Amino acid sequence: MNAHELHAVATAMVEKGRGILAADESSPTIKKRFDSISLESTEEHRRTYREMLFTTENLGSYISGVILYDETLRQSCADGTSFASYLAEHGMLPGIKVDAGAKALAGFPGEKITEGLDGLRDRLAEYAGLGAKFAKWRAVIDIADGIPTDYCIRANAQALARYAALCQEGGIVPIVEPEVLMDGAHDLARCEAVTGEVLSQVFRELHRHRVLLEGMVLKPNMVISGKKCPTQAGVEEVAEATVRCLKRYVPGAVPGIAFLSGGQSDELATAHLNAMNAAYTLPWNLTFSYGRALQAPALKAWGGRAEKLSAGQAALGLRARLNGLATHGEYSPEMEKAA
Ligand code: 13P
Repeated sequence: MNAHELHAVATAMVEKGRGILAADESSPTIKKRFDSISLESTEEHRRTYREMLFTTENLGSYISGVILYDETLRQSCADGTSFASYLAEHGMLPGIKVDAGAKALAGFPGEKITEGLDGLRDRLAEYAGLGAKFAKWRAVIDIADGIPTDYCIRANAQALARYAALCQEGGIVPIVEPEVLMDGAHDLARCEAVTGEVLSQVFRELHRHRVLLEGMVLKPNMVISGKKCPTQAGVEEVAEATVRCLKRYVPGAVPGIAFLSGGQSDELATAHLNAMNAAYTLPWNLTFSYGRALQAPALKAWGGRAEKLSAGQAALGLRARLNGLATHGEYSPEMEKAA
């Protein structure tokens, strides 16, 4: 893929009206999700669940791409069609999570560094052969007393940039995901300051690593109050702070920004995205790349029961459609009740 093709794929991933379904839970993470519905995490259960999600009617009208996990990229629908082929035939780009998870950063208690660079060039070549058009790497930055340190931010920014450069060399569009966690007791202002510093260092490293900004997608957190903060910022305040922060630190050459949901409720994640798209004119398309905020209602409605498959699909279809509307700023909370 040359620069022009990378740009075309990145642009398609963030096109207005559509967003990305993050279905790339690693085996330990999907086990946690299945525990919540008392379902054993066997390979066949994971395959069945993913097939339910991907074969939702009209999903491609709202979903531009799906992030898969290594195991899932190698799996197929019950009729033998590989998931990657099924998605491509239904207008959704197959993508792949390529990081090996966030591990303790030696010498920096409470902080993490994402692993997975060794051998990445060869893995990317294999994934491209299996049909992956884009990839994802997630860095995790936690906020607490005395953290994040400048070193932790820099180490993670460098790893993200090395990953992104390798992806583009191998003809794969990188999703660059620096996630500032919402778990702490910090307020909105602290989240904005840390997110700004993280984005600033990430783009500095992307430049140093000669990454083509037109051929990537940024997947950041929104600027929100920490989960344990006694004062929770409202929807408009979150939209304003997030847009201000992005405008300061994200170059206009990036085609699009696809937010993670990070533990926000599904309805709030949609409302926040909608508020930004309704009130601001921006250089990049703003869309979603949600995991939990798209899947949680579907997982619950399905509950692992074959007879509830269409209920699970209806729940995913609804969230996908409402988030699609939010990319146009045309969502309203009343639509939740009408559905
Ligand atoms: P959440 O939207 O559940 O945060 O997941 C998105 C994701 O891909 C995290 O890496």
